[in-house]
Amino acid sequence: MNFRSNFIVALVLLLSGCAASMDLKSPSRDITVSFSVNECGVPQYQVMAYGQEVIGLSSMGLEAVETQLASGFMVKDVRRSKVNQEWVQPWGENKQMLDRHEEMAVVLENAEGVALTLKFRAFDDGIGYRYEYDASDVVADSLTITGDNTRFNFAQDGVSWSIASYFSGYELPYRELAVSAVENTNTPFTFRMGDVYGSIHEAALYDFPEMNLYRQDSLDFKSELAPRPDGTLARVGACFVTPWRTIQLAQSAVGLINSSLILNLNDPCAIEDVSWIRPQKYVGVWWGMHLGTQVWTMGPRHGATTENALRHIDFAAANNIGGVLFEGWNKGWENWGGSQHFNYCEAYEDFDLEKIASYAAEKGVSLWMHNETGGSIFEYERDMEKAFELYESLGIHYLKTGYAGGMPDGIRHHSQRGVQHYQKVVEKAAEHKIAIDAHEPIKETGIRRTWPNMMTREGARGMEWNAWSEGNSSEHLCVLPYTRLLSGPMDYTPGVFDIYYKTACATPGREEWNGDNSRTYIKTTLARQIANWVLLYSPLQMACDLIENYEGHPAFQFFRDFDPDCDWSEALAGEIGDYIVIARRAGDKFFLGAGTDSKARTLEISLDFLKPEVVYLATVYADDPDAPVVTQPDGTEAPDKTFYRIEKIKVTSSDTLTIEMAADGGQAVSFIPVE
Ligand code: NOJ
Ligand code: CA
Repeated sequence: MNFRSNFIVALVLLLSGCAASMDLKSPSRDITVSFSVNECGVPQYQVMAYGQEVIGLSSMGLEAVETQLASGFMVKDVRRSKVNQEWVQPWGENKQMLDRHEEMAVVLENAEGVALTLKFRAFDDGIGYRYEYDASDVVADSLTITGDNTRFNFAQDGVSWSIASYFSGYELPYRELAVSAVENTNTPFTFRMGDVYGSIHEAALYDFPEMNLYRQDSLDFKSELAPRPDGTLARVGACFVTPWRTIQLAQSAVGLINSSLILNLNDPCAIEDVSWIRPQKYVGVWWGMHLGTQVWTMGPRHGATTENALRHIDFAAANNIGGVLFEGWNKGWENWGGSQHFNYCEAYEDFDLEKIASYAAEKGVSLWMHNETGGSIFEYERDMEKAFELYESLGIHYLKTGYAGGMPDGIRHHSQRGVQHYQKVVEKAAEHKIAIDAHEPIKETGIRRTWPNMMTREGARGMEWNAWSEGNSSEHLCVLPYTRLLSGPMDYTPGVFDIYYKTACATPGREEWNGDNSRTYIKTTLARQIANWVLLYSPLQMACDLIENYEGHPAFQFFRDFDPDCDWSEALAGEIGDYIVIARRAGDKFFLGAGTDSKARTLEISLDFLKPEVVYLATVYADDPDAPVVTQPDGTEAPDKTFYRIEKIKVTSSDTLTIEMAADGGQAVSFIPVE
């Protein structure tokens, strides 16, 4: 549209006071978002995808103490543009990216001259919109946001996968519910409606609270933002933009995984030199603490000792593993859950930090630091710079952070203050060339594009839950790729080989950490644990079991060969909660992971993703159909999950792979070109 037609649209709308709808179509024309203003001047939108209405007429708008941002608007101007641009990221599921979208910015104005712009973007994999506000000269220096009237009025009922709304954590079980049965939900909120698959989330969440959805009526959901302790939602300047509200759309479940909408709605990289931000595999002193065989504090069961550290560094160096994480290396763990005074600079007496750092450097292994804060963000903001200076001086580039505990003064993890904190850490870490793996994080919204040192995060029920709860089912693992993982990488910490970890159950003194675990175990087969290294994408990928369980284990060869520095990825087949198959390429090697729920499944997968005319040696790590039935620690009988088989075959891109998976099983394959 040119200036003249824009002007006419504006004029018509001004005269009529409302109505005429404006369409924005995706480049393929399969997705349309329509915008209009109702008779009260309330902005509204509607979404069609693949010939089906997905989101019916839904209102938009914000509420603020100082001004009216919800109604009384007329369209003043409409600006349209198109983008078709390739870009490259330093790491990610795919390095080569394409941002192809059409944009429509609708400038609204009310009688007081307050201008609010609604910016829409339509991509072939979904839509995004955000509020842009600039009233520096009209209203006040800053605004207090008290409501978000954004609605998602589903056009018809469907099935959905989500976790319940909660503003202080994401480690909740996933629910499969009719959309109409969801009272409230966090995002990504994934759904299937007829033939269309979709997922609602956000992109570029900065300096604003996160969005959850609460059902108002029937199929109509309203945005609820994580509140501040005083009940208001956000303090913003007189000039601000909200995060993008996103709706990924696809014609298949795996289409959601192959979408790059969230990253495309984020700004380009803000870090000039990204050469130090590298994907890597790691092991660590970690699982023992969750089992209870080791502890974070000083004493006879202290995990992070100098001797143990050197042993882990040797193991990493010998097994093509880039890094080693030590939890419980620093003073202050005695206070965890109490007064929370962690010391981020001083090591316990039995952990010789300098000696360990120089030994790691000598062996070419990255030493990872760990900063559990217990949620004490003020203390951490005060101390982190000094800590990062120390780590930088020791040549340390990787830091796992943690927020297992309440934040001070009633601050919720996902509120505006929480979001600000997580971002401060990312930016301060970047100044010291430190990459972050955040546990108990704020959700990923694609900021890794702008801040690639924000490499991975937890943000769902990860492996640790298998040590001290009913554990994570194979179905949970078939939901994660279509929900949590749509937002970005996850540090699930996969790879326990000692499925029934009998020794830990018998450990005296376990009661010190989460009580009795004599009935817990890993709820998948060993082959599935291997497949998870491919399926659960993280540029920093951990083999989380005790290293003695990998020593001499033939199936550990997969992790030795595995390269988390992907160039390309594609989800090949799957249904939400049922199964999933993903292939990735790193350099000239390919890796495939497949996983099923509690049903055994056989899949035929074409290998046409391999490079043509190259012969690959495929090493298949599969479930063993002859596994004997055993009684598991919880008393249930099942084929022994530790049984697996390894097969080597030569394949090319014209072959088809038959993937046989046991109940709760999976399969991993490495494809290495034959010289
Ligand atoms: C919870 C984290 O998810 C886990 O990985 C860590 O070991 C503990 N907190 C202690 O920091
Ligand atoms: Ca956690």
